[in-house]
Amino acid sequence: MRVVLGVSGASGAALAPAVARHLAALGAEIDLVISKAGERTLVEEIGPEAPEALRGLATRVHGIMNVGAAIASGSSPVAGMIVAPCSMRSLAAIAHGLDDNLLTRAASVQLKERRRLVLLVRESPLTLAHLRNMTAVTEMGAIVAPPVPAFYLKPDSVQAIVEQIAARAVDLMGLGRPQAKAWG
Ligand SMILES: Cc1cc2nc3c(=O)[nH]c(=O)nc-3n(C[C@H](O)[C@H](O)[C@H](O)COP(=O)(O)O)c2cc1C
Repeated sequence: MRVVLGVSGASGAALAPAVARHLAALGAEIDLVISKAGERTLVEEIGPEAPEALRGLATRVHGIMNVGAAIASGSSPVAGMIVAPCSMRSLAAIAHGLDDNLLTRAASVQLKERRRLVLLVRESPLTLAHLRNMTAVTEMGAIVAPPVPAFYLKPDSVQAIVEQIAARAVDLMGLGRPQAKAWG
């Protein structure tokens, strides 16, 4: 079981290691690709050690411009991909088939192979371009899952919110027993 984890430069960098931990708990192999802006948000929001710590959770680490990596091809046997967090720039590239780096190329591959693609898109407020791009990727089969808190679970910390969102994202991949807390 192999899953691509893409990390782009939206706020919510803590979602990336949380998703990686939940994937690892399921026994999934992680193919990690981080955009340049994703590296920056990891450093800005978590700390200078964050990119390296995240790479330590992955099975394979790919350079963002390495469009010749195995995950750039549909022949690579991966179950799907989660982009956590997903910036509006990466969303736009995916929505328009603009495979300009390995993250957007790998996302495109999941769509063309009709595999699961979960995008934790983060921006607020949203422009019409953002909304149209979300519609476009949904029409192509992706799941748009904005990282919004499950207020009904009464989370007592930001970390609890992050863990729940990450667990839900992994559950949406449909790989194993659900990990997210359920209502009731
Ligand atoms: C600290 C920080 C926070 C950012 N937050 C967001 C955000 O929440 N959503 C977003 O779409 N872009 C955000 N950006 C801007 C993106 O990083 C920028 O558009 C970048 O070009 C995205 O590139 P990528 O999609 O290749 O990662 C943020 C940038 C920084 C430095």
